[in-house]
Amino acid sequence: IRYVLYQPREDDLRCLTLFGHFGFECLPHQLVNRSIQQGFSFNILCVGETGIGKSTLIDTLFNTNLKDKKSSHFYSNVGLKIQTYELQESNVQLKLTVVKTVGYGDQINKEASYQPIVDYIDAQFEAYLQEELKIRRSFLEYHDSRIHVCLYFISPTGHSLKSLDLLTMKTIDSKVNIIPLIAKADTISKSDLQIFKCKIMSELAHNGIQIYQFPADDETTAHVNSSMNEHLPFAVVGSMEEVKVGKRMVRGRQYPWGVLQVENENHCDFVKLRDMLLCTNMEDLKEQTHRQHYERYRCYKLLKMGFTDVGPDNQPISFQETYEAKKQEFYDRCLREEEELKHRFMQRVNEKEAAFKEAEKELQDKFEHLKRVQQEKIMKLEEERRQLEEEIIEFYKMKASSETLQPPVCTNLRKD
Ligand code: GTP
Repeated sequence: IRYVLYQPREDDLRCLTLFGHFGFECLPHQLVNRSIQQGFSFNILCVGETGIGKSTLIDTLFNTNLKDKKSSHFYSNVGLKIQTYELQESNVQLKLTVVKTVGYGDQINKEASYQPIVDYIDAQFEAYLQEELKIRRSFLEYHDSRIHVCLYFISPTGHSLKSLDLLTMKTIDSKVNIIPLIAKADTISKSDLQIFKCKIMSELAHNGIQIYQFPADDETTAHVNSSMNEHLPFAVVGSMEEVKVGKRMVRGRQYPWGVLQVENENHCDFVKLRDMLLCTNMEDLKEQTHRQHYERYRCYKLLKMGFTDVGPDNQPISFQETYEAKKQEFYDRCLREEEELKHRFMQRVNEKEAAFKEAEKELQDKFEHLKRVQQEKIMKLEEERRQLEEEIIEFYKMKASSETLQPPVCTNLRKD
């Protein structure tokens, strides 16, 4: 058999048009389809004083009408209001959880103001850790309630941050991504706003408070993210009112001197916030929550439980070894406690026994004493009886002798 090597000439080649994807280049599409089917979830924590505009901003961001009723200024403690909503935009479903502070900043005790927030964030990490440690885990059905972002509402004082702002942010900055916002920014003039922004950033830096930085490591978003970092804290305005500007209806706030358009970048930073939060960095916020904040909590918790990656000799130590060591430690502790209990029990028994013996001895002594007293009394009575008998005998003797000595007397006595 002879083989002839066929080499096509260039003008013999057929060009085919590609009508679809094939091979593993379809992998991203599979991921996108699966994510869309599963839906997304996002959890926002809004921290700010009562009436600072938290609900209005969330409504403006998500184009919803979630606000129910105004909170009172007279709560004795800070509380949290948790609401979960199912939202849909084209074919993308979003499970949005909004956690809002209630009564924040209305009390004198500042520590009591931020503690419920810290406890809530930790409780969500703890719930996730418990799910992770389960033998039968069900992350598909599990509602991950860890907070992905904290929108911190700063009062538009134009002056500086309040001590409560610094205290709270300092406490939670290692637990959550903080995006600081100047609330109701329409109440502050443009020049004051720039000075206020600089003041806030320098105060945050001075107090070592870490706020969320839009990531600059992805080249597609690096440029916009870096420039947005320069605009922090965002000066936002919220409104669900539709106001007529020229021939258009826009969302804004109508004032006697004009209209503030919420979605006009010359008027406020609302659009910047919406783009950064929802369009560009939502996934990064979730990733940072998992990789940085949750990881820190998990590490702290496992170390506290006695787990470690390296032994005392700096050699890697397996989970099994840690488990065995913990089991042995627990067994030893139980033995020690049992011995201690036994010892304490014997000590108490001995103490009780000694107390009983002492009481018995006391009773015995008392008995002996009473017996002695009784005997003495008997002896005394015996003596008295003996004396009495002697006296009687003496008496009879005297009587007898007196009878023999006396002459008979003629009696003419009347017998009674
Ligand atoms: P609580 O949930 O009761 O603590 O209030 P909140 O922080 O959710 O404030 P809310 O959104 O209810 O707003 C309180 C008032 O402030 C309402 O009358 C809003 O119309 C008004 N408001 C909200 N956002 C802005 C804003 O950006 N600028 C101005 N000027 N007013 C605003």
